[in-house]
Amino acid sequence: MHDQIPHSAAIADSDYVIFGGTGDLALRKIFPALFWRYIDGQIGDNFRLIATSRKPVDLAEFSEKLRPFCADALASAPEAEAVWEKFIQLVSIQIVDIASGDGAEEMARFLLREASERRPLIYYLAVAPALFGPSCQLLQKVGLAVSQSRVVVEKPLGHDYLSAEKISQEIRSVFSEDQIYRIDHYLGKETVQNLMALRFANVIFESQWNNNAIDHVQITVAETVGVGQRASYYDESGALRDMVQNHILQLVCLVAMEPPSHFDANQVRDEKLRVLKALRPLKAEDIIRGQYQEYEGELGKRSDTETYVGLRLGIENWRWAGVPFYVRTGKKLAMRASEIVITFKRKPHDIFADQKSGTARTDRDDLPNRLVIRLQPQEGLRLQLISKEPGPGGMRLFPSELNLSFDNTFGARLPDAYERLLMDTARGNQTLFMRHDEVLAAWAFIDPVIEMAKKTPPSLYRTGTFGPADSFFADKDDSWIDPKEDSGR
Ligand code: BG6
Repeated sequence: MHDQIPHSAAIADSDYVIFGGTGDLALRKIFPALFWRYIDGQIGDNFRLIATSRKPVDLAEFSEKLRPFCADALASAPEAEAVWEKFIQLVSIQIVDIASGDGAEEMARFLLREASERRPLIYYLAVAPALFGPSCQLLQKVGLAVSQSRVVVEKPLGHDYLSAEKISQEIRSVFSEDQIYRIDHYLGKETVQNLMALRFANVIFESQWNNNAIDHVQITVAETVGVGQRASYYDESGALRDMVQNHILQLVCLVAMEPPSHFDANQVRDEKLRVLKALRPLKAEDIIRGQYQEYEGELGKRSDTETYVGLRLGIENWRWAGVPFYVRTGKKLAMRASEIVITFKRKPHDIFADQKSGTARTDRDDLPNRLVIRLQPQEGLRLQLISKEPGPGGMRLFPSELNLSFDNTFGARLPDAYERLLMDTARGNQTLFMRHDEVLAAWAFIDPVIEMAKKTPPSLYRTGTFGPADSFFADKDDSWIDPKEDSGR
């Protein structure tokens, strides 16, 4: 067992400007991730972290507000107080009003003081998408759109193809594609990256990774939380836009893509794009939408928005023809767990079928091999095999597992997705970020799905279940495989 994940290399000194720097995303995700990276030594004392705010905010008050969001990191840091104080010294607050432009010149003077050094200048737009375009234009106007600058945005990148294209154009009219970092935080998850290692750093899986050996693929992203405070955003979005257009399709791409020649940003994204373009247009029977029973009560009005969606996808190419990809995601489900399950084909012939051992045979000994990739929590991989029960008395077969638990193997905390992604923006590595054409291809696939899905109201489901029933597996000797509470640690 490794005592610790090796420390990551320090990042070149950079200026990290967070628009909306005192808002929810900044407090919950961005600053805690930066703090972890500071504790780990990846961010040095010459970094500058600039939080923009429309209203004056006192740094001491900001520090107190931020502190609870960094509680885990603080608990792990030796000499926590001293480290916190040093970290807060990297932070400054600039008053900037994106709409009127007030304060932008002052910020430019502050930032450009050290521009001769050509430090990376990163702008994280943690603001509403309607402000992405105006923010970029403002940066240009005050001379902050320079060659070393990068811009980071996050979903919702539009609510359909046309609006996504518009947002993209607004950003691209100021920054070039290699300066734009579109976050899908699922790509920063350790296990999601491990999917690429599993496939492309090993021989045994890749040679089986096709329609000769694989029967079907399932992807479950289950959450126990409801929509809570986000009800008004969510009701306009629904699971198809909120989770499928981005996170789930990205997972499908990583499972299905061809091996790129190099682990290079554009090559990886070229291959993912090919998967998106090969998705078979769906029919009504490939879609099931659900809504948890309390949803309308929480929202305070009637709604046909789905809080659950299940899809039967197909990929039209030689590798995947005939292999269904079943994907589902929902709120208020039985447990919080995300898994990808690769089910291999059943054995072509059973040489043990006529064994009359002492123990009655069960259908459990005829289960197919499955590779279960647990994305969260309890990250790891399990390979389900059929083995012989030890001892004399004939061939008694039973399902067993090879189990690689990341926790047991690495024994260290897995960094949050944002930590990896924020460091990649500073390093200038776009591999784990979505390219303009990928985002649009995902919308081009999802738009008609949303249109078709709207024709049937969502089925209600009870909280704590795995969503409404569907008939996806009616013609198959299989069913949804629900994640296990204890994934076999
Ligand atoms: C976000 C969605 O992108 O992902 C949320 O907007 C969802 O609705 C969240 O809860 C899930 O992320 P994670 O990392 O908790 O699986």
